[in-house]
Amino acid sequence: EKGGFDHFMLKEIFDQPASLTDCLRGRLDVSNLTLTLAGVDQHLSVFTQAKRIIMVACGTSWHAGLIAEYMIETICRIPVEVEYASEFRYRDPIIHPGDVIIAISQSGETADTLVAIERAKEQGAFIFGVVNAVGSSIARLSHAGAYTHAGPEIGVASTKAFTAQLTVLAMMALKIGKAKQSISEEAYKHYLTELSQIPEKVQVILSGHESIREVAQVYAEANNFLFLGRGYNFPVALEAALKLKEVSYIPCSGYPSGEVKHGPIALVDETLPTMFIATKDKYYDKIVSNIQEIKARKGKVIAIVNPDDSAIRGVSDHVMEVPETDELLAPLLTVIPTQLMSYYIGVLRGLDVDKPRNLAKSVTVE
Ligand code: F6R
Repeated sequence: EKGGFDHFMLKEIFDQPASLTDCLRGRLDVSNLTLTLAGVDQHLSVFTQAKRIIMVACGTSWHAGLIAEYMIETICRIPVEVEYASEFRYRDPIIHPGDVIIAISQSGETADTLVAIERAKEQGAFIFGVVNAVGSSIARLSHAGAYTHAGPEIGVASTKAFTAQLTVLAMMALKIGKAKQSISEEAYKHYLTELSQIPEKVQVILSGHESIREVAQVYAEANNFLFLGRGYNFPVALEAALKLKEVSYIPCSGYPSGEVKHGPIALVDETLPTMFIATKDKYYDKIVSNIQEIKARKGKVIAIVNPDDSAIRGVSDHVMEVPETDELLAPLLTVIPTQLMSYYIGVLRGLDVDKPRNLAKSVTVE
């Protein structure tokens, strides 16, 4: 059942070229430049007229929501808020007619997310579910939705469900942006082409797993870990920190790299590894100077970079390469080396990566 892999987590990481292909199948048609998402198509005007979109989720799914915030604001020019379900449900949230709630959940059974959307539904919001588990409670409670089609995820730490969530959310943003004409035909075509190439690019990263394992070996005994990124790669830093702490029990934190000087830099010494998610985008030069600030304090730097990178390679202790894509889709690639590194460090520390202590696959209690 683990398909020859030692753990479900590793199998599910390696499933991603196939799970992403499944997620895109029948939806993205590059030759005709169409995107078919029945749940969005049937309610297109709800989305194009939305005054605001509120994402509600927990954990890894909340990180997918943060990335979708950047995507939707860029492509659709609709204001987005991203809420932790556990906070949203206990506040008295302000919901206006015309607000759209997107609930993101792998299991479709997370109690906090479920109750949050029940409350929002009572107040008249339109609820759209981005869910992996077919027929689950959140899927049934939503007015409409789009399944992520990642297949069953058994490992407690979410991996392939996350990349499928990003893929669905990117398709939604593009569909809505096209309908609203908030992006040009040319940009639309560019994004569709890039999106269609993601599964094979993920495969390229997975083929390089051995060099990621070598870096994991160097840092398996670390007592602390910092993850930094900007723009679309900022939520990837948060996700990488969550994943590593879940499976290795190493205290990890993730920040936007611009925030480091406001506090976290106090942690930096020669024992602290910092991972920078530093693919080519509009923040590149800023990231290079952020890395120099860490190196000046003798911190160890691991950087996720594109193959043609030279500036960051020169100042980092280790690099992990991912193929180039548009910055909007970069998280689909940059998260892969972080998943692999977390897995290898957890295994090297002798831990049960599929069932970390104190965690359950679906959190059906408050
Ligand atoms: C992290 C993880 C959790 C879940 C969270 C939400 O690896 O698995 O943080 O992402 O409990 O679960 P779902 O997506 O099932 O609502």
